[in-house]
Amino acid sequence: MDCSWIPLAIGILFRCRISEDKSRTTVSLCAKVFIWVVLFVVVVTLVSVYTVSHMQINLPSFHSATRSNVRDMLMEIQVRNTTVLSPRPDACEACFSHNFKYVIDNDVMCKLYNDSQEIDLIIFIFTTHQHQQERNAIRQTWLNCTNINKANIRYSFLLGEVSDENIRKLVEDENKIHNDIIKEDFVDTYQNLTYKTIMAFKYAITKCSHAKFVLKTDDDVWVNIPGLLKVLQREKMTLQTAVAGACFHGANPNRNPDSKWYASIQSYPHDSYPGFCSGTGYVTSNNVVNKIFEISKNVPFFHLEDVYVAMCIRKLGYRLHKIAGFNNIRPPFDPCLYKGDNLITSHEVPPEMLISYWNTTCTR
Ligand SMILES: *[C@@H]1O[C@H](CO)[C@@H](O)[C@H](O)[C@H]1NC(C)=O
Ligand SMILES: *[C@@H]1O[C@H](CO)[C@@H](O)[C@H](O)[C@H]1NC(C)=O
Ligand SMILES: *[C@@H]1O[C@H](CO)[C@@H](O)[C@H](O)[C@H]1NC(C)=O
Ligand SMILES: *[C@@H]1O[C@H](CO)[C@@H](O)[C@H](O)[C@H]1NC(C)=O
Ligand SMILES: *[C@@H]1O[C@H](CO)[C@@H](O)[C@H](O)[C@H]1NC(C)=O
Repeated sequence: MDCSWIPLAIGILFRCRISEDKSRTTVSLCAKVFIWVVLFVVVVTLVSVYTVSHMQINLPSFHSATRSNVRDMLMEIQVRNTTVLSPRPDACEACFSHNFKYVIDNDVMCKLYNDSQEIDLIIFIFTTHQHQQERNAIRQTWLNCTNINKANIRYSFLLGEVSDENIRKLVEDENKIHNDIIKEDFVDTYQNLTYKTIMAFKYAITKCSHAKFVLKTDDDVWVNIPGLLKVLQREKMTLQTAVAGACFHGANPNRNPDSKWYASIQSYPHDSYPGFCSGTGYVTSNNVVNKIFEISKNVPFFHLEDVYVAMCIRKLGYRLHKIAGFNNIRPPFDPCLYKGDNLITSHEVPPEMLISYWNTTCTR
């Protein structure tokens, strides 16, 4: 360290004093500068002493923070780092693996009961533990044609995990009666629905590979099964390379943090989506499901599951196929519409409404 300036500085200060009697003006200027420098040093010292003592007041509370608090803080820093500093990439190399374990897997779901039986369609219905009423209404109404998973159409309700023991137990009991629930050990939240989709697709290709077509829907949707079977028959070739339903091209991310469909700039840095087929009801072939499952390993997680599926479809070079009759809203009820060929799905149909629609026959 070069300290040669110190004697030089002292020398300058002393020369000020020594030269006192040469000229009164120089002397007073020199003295003023000296006093200002001393004052400045005093103020800086006082401020830094105050700051340090203030910090010391806060130090004990920092030290009393528990180990887990510190860990949470570190995790938060890590989360911020990944979500705020680095936007979601469009592609990656094996970054999205699905390593969750089944909590309930009904292997009987796709069992064949005789040599000539085939499975035309497997239906995956997204639900939550609390929605027992919704599930019962669907079982009694539009799922009746499945003959409790013994006909050519199979179905299951999909769940993740919850912390509440009682609610878990209720679902276990419900499954003992109906044997129609599939559940994995990821946390069951809206933000995690993409895990549910991958769970469904994994089930379709590993435990139900003989099913020809796959429908994904929700527990507040009316599905017109006879109408859907006609669509599958008509579109069977298209569905080998497409996902079909209430599809939208040219949708944009919602940037309002209060919206159900909010996507932050970090989670999706582009201005438009590759489109999507509404998660209220989309259908495709088991072939496409297989391809989506494989490519999903290289498509980073995105929380809106229908948009995520569209990202995979784009990467595969397949397409989104809009079919009239798939509604992500609820068209006004008319039994001839709901039971005819022109309506396949209707959304936001609560359990009581589902049952009353089911019981109303078309008389025209
Ligand atoms: C933050 O992210 C960058 C790049 O994404 C990475 O290199 C760095 O290690 C991360 N830092 C922490 C503390 O996680
Ligand atoms: C065997 O399969 C055929 C064709 O799917 C079906 O019509 C028939 O009811 C089945 N028989 C039994 C006993 O399940
Ligand atoms: C309505 O439907 C339910 C379930 O499908 C059935 O149990 C009930 O008997 C029906 N009620 C009437 C009045 O038809
Ligand atoms: C349910 O389906 C069975 C045949 O599988 C039929 O006999 C019965 O009437 C149906 N029930 C309702 C409420 O539609
Ligand atoms: C999603 O599931 C994972 C795995 O169970 C869990 O760690 C994470 O907290 C869940 N995310 C949300 C937002 O619930």
